[in-house]
Amino acid sequence: MKPVKNVCLVIAALFCFQLMQAQTIVGSKHDFSTQAWNTSVGQQICIVCHTPHNASTTVTDAPLWNHASTASTFTLYSSSTLNSTMSQPDASSKLCLSCHDGTVALENFGTTTNGTHFITSVYNLGSGLNNDHPVSFTYDAALATTDGGLKNPTTTASGLGGTISQNMLFGGKMQCASCHDVHNSAGQPKLLLKSNAASALCLTCHAK
Ligand code: HEC
Ligand code: HEC
Ligand code: HEC
Ligand code: HEC
Repeated sequence: MKPVKNVCLVIAALFCFQLMQAQTIVGSKHDFSTQAWNTSVGQQICIVCHTPHNASTTVTDAPLWNHASTASTFTLYSSSTLNSTMSQPDASSKLCLSCHDGTVALENFGTTTNGTHFITSVYNLGSGLNNDHPVSFTYDAALATTDGGLKNPTTTASGLGGTISQNMLFGGKMQCASCHDVHNSAGQPKLLLKSNAASALCLTCHAK
């Protein structure tokens, strides 16, 4: 084999190895380990959101939560074609909004309550959820039938190994995490749960 061909093979192998590597939170927008405001021991990654002990039980269904929670009342999405009934964001969506509504400081985790760094720009959704995709409502077969333009979540494949219900809903509900992976496991832009190329994410649920 010619040397140049060998070099090409090595590069191809390295590229394959890169593709096989699972993506993680490390280096993503949710890796706060290099932020000056993260003064935890060794500037840990998980601690900003989780703690193994003395976790907050303020929000129902919160996974060992360590971050201060929002106290905002949100303006909800409405439209004349919406079939679901909206209510205040709950469970993990409320956890997302505990940074993304811009009212709680990023470093208000653990025992810190006087932080000064807030989320800004397009990352700040504010307390007006009336211009955001609805969350925190039940998406079931009955809704799909009523709506007519939604796929049945209990029988439709998500493209992630199981059905929409299994892979994208939480206790049968749509949440921010139905479209986003907070830990960046999928390695998609904008922390999306799956690729939205040619609107693949949207078309998982919407029959359009
Ligand atoms: C920016 C906040 C944030 C950071 C940082 C974070 N998580 Fe999470 N984590 C969440 C939220 C929100 C949920 C609930 C939503 C969900 O399950 O997708 C969650 C859920 C979980 C769960 C339960 C559900 C599951 O996916 O198994 C585990 C376990 C977990 N996180 C572990 C970790 C570990 C370990 C780290 C550090 C390497 C970490 N998280 C960093 C926000 C965070
Ligand atoms: C501890 C605070 C915190 C929590 C909790 C949190 N985020 Fe974030 N998130 C941030 C910050 C800070 C950024 C980066 C903002 C910036 O760069 O200005 C960010 C960025 C993002 C981005 C943009 C990613 C990109 O690459 O452009 C998305 C999407 C996102 N978060 C969704 C979520 C979702 C969904 C949840 C809940 C499941 C969540 N976040 C929970 C603080 C948080
Ligand atoms: C129906 C799917 C869906 C739901 C539900 C959803 N998002 Fe997103 N989100 C997206 C998509 C798609 C993008 C990327 C848009 C783009 O690239 O312009 C995005 C972008 C973002 C961004 C980055 C802002 C930007 O303009 O770059 C943040 C932050 C974010 N979402 C947070 C949230 C939070 C918090 C929730 C829950 C309150 C949520 N999302 C619910 C699909 C969703
Ligand atoms: C995990 C499933 C799921 C994904 C992914 C999803 N949606 Fe939805 N979407 C729903 C459900 C369920 C509703 C509520 C429909 C209702 O109650 O009428 C909804 C509501 C909407 C509405 C409001 C409908 C109305 O009548 O006012 C629009 C528009 C919409 N989605 C667009 C999108 C777009 C664009 C994307 C991709 C960025 C997307 N959705 C991704 C499930 C999903």
